[in-house]
Amino acid sequence: MYRRVLITGGNGLLGQALIQKMGQSGNYDIMATGRQSRPLFAGGSCGYMSMDISDFKNVASVFQDFSPDVVINCAAMTQVDDCESEREICWRVNADAVENLAKQCRKFGSHLIQVSTDFIFDGLTGPYREADRPNPLSYYGRSKLAGENGVRHAGLDRWAIARTVLVFGTGENLSRSNFVLWVANSLKQGKSISVVTDQFRSPTYVYDLADGIERIVRFKKSGIYHLSGRETLSVYDIAVTTAEVFGLDRTLINKTDGSQFKQVALRPPRTGFLILKAETELGYKPHELRDALAELANQLKIQSSESA
Ligand SMILES: NC(=O)c1ccc[n+]([C@@H]2O[C@H](COP(=O)([O-])OP(=O)(O)OC[C@H]3O[C@@H](n4cnc5c(N)ncnc54)[C@H](OP(=O)(O)O)[C@@H]3O)[C@@H](O)[C@H]2O)c1
Repeated sequence: MYRRVLITGGNGLLGQALIQKMGQSGNYDIMATGRQSRPLFAGGSCGYMSMDISDFKNVASVFQDFSPDVVINCAAMTQVDDCESEREICWRVNADAVENLAKQCRKFGSHLIQVSTDFIFDGLTGPYREADRPNPLSYYGRSKLAGENGVRHAGLDRWAIARTVLVFGTGENLSRSNFVLWVANSLKQGKSISVVTDQFRSPTYVYDLADGIERIVRFKKSGIYHLSGRETLSVYDIAVTTAEVFGLDRTLINKTDGSQFKQVALRPPRTGFLILKAETELGYKPHELRDALAELANQLKIQSSESA
């Protein structure tokens, strides 16, 4: 029997990858939702409804119409610096709306999977495992932690939190870029860039993340899962590896650090995840970073030859 899966943030980077991954499996009846009146991606493997997760009436009516077995919340205000300056909107989307989604899930008996972030940690003792103590440094991190708590305390029979780190990949008509695409595009245009050597992350290929989430759905899991790449390296080294795999000029990448490069919101210095729980309970096997980057480079070549 098909399981009815509602995906929020369907026009975003992760949303599009999940729709593709779950659509291919043939086991799910997928309803994608996004703020826009129509999907920004092609492909007919799912239905689409317009839904702003912070509009409670809108959410209630979509649940009434679709009655989901599973809800995967990929919608979020993800721009970390904007969250610092636009706190009210950030809280409404990343915290209040999640609590409301959880209430609807309790009413409809749906399995809720909330996507969360390494920025709930302070970055003093990474890489982190699931049971480590959160201590967010930024408003974005605080709002995402509140979203997690809203899910955990909603009285749901089945819920999961899938945390991830520095996600990269591509999609159609995305409203924002990601670190790897920014590095690749800048170097392709011959622009020099400055990248920090004192922040450490486990870069995550969006299709690996989608695969991990599909496994949470398939195995009907509850609890917290860390879904990232296996390697933790400095953001500078991620940029250099991208240049090497894409065949671009790595000498355009300059080193900087937190003392020179100021951002509006504080970033945790060393995050990265330990993914043993996902490997053993879900059979999660992310690509090696270089392999994932090579696959992405290939996909981008295909995309640009299609649009030429
Ligand atoms: N990308 C990363 O490096 C990273 C790292 C850790 C965790 N995460 C988490 O992963 C999840 C997916 O992120 P992503 O990388 O796919 O980001 P994304 O590409 O920015 O996608 C987020 C989507 O949410 C939508 N959205 C924002 N506010 C909404 C609202 N009120 N109602 C409905 N949709 C709304 C956005 O639509 P608009 O385009 O209209 O704004 C966008 O399509 C998020 O929970 C994020 O916190 C991401």
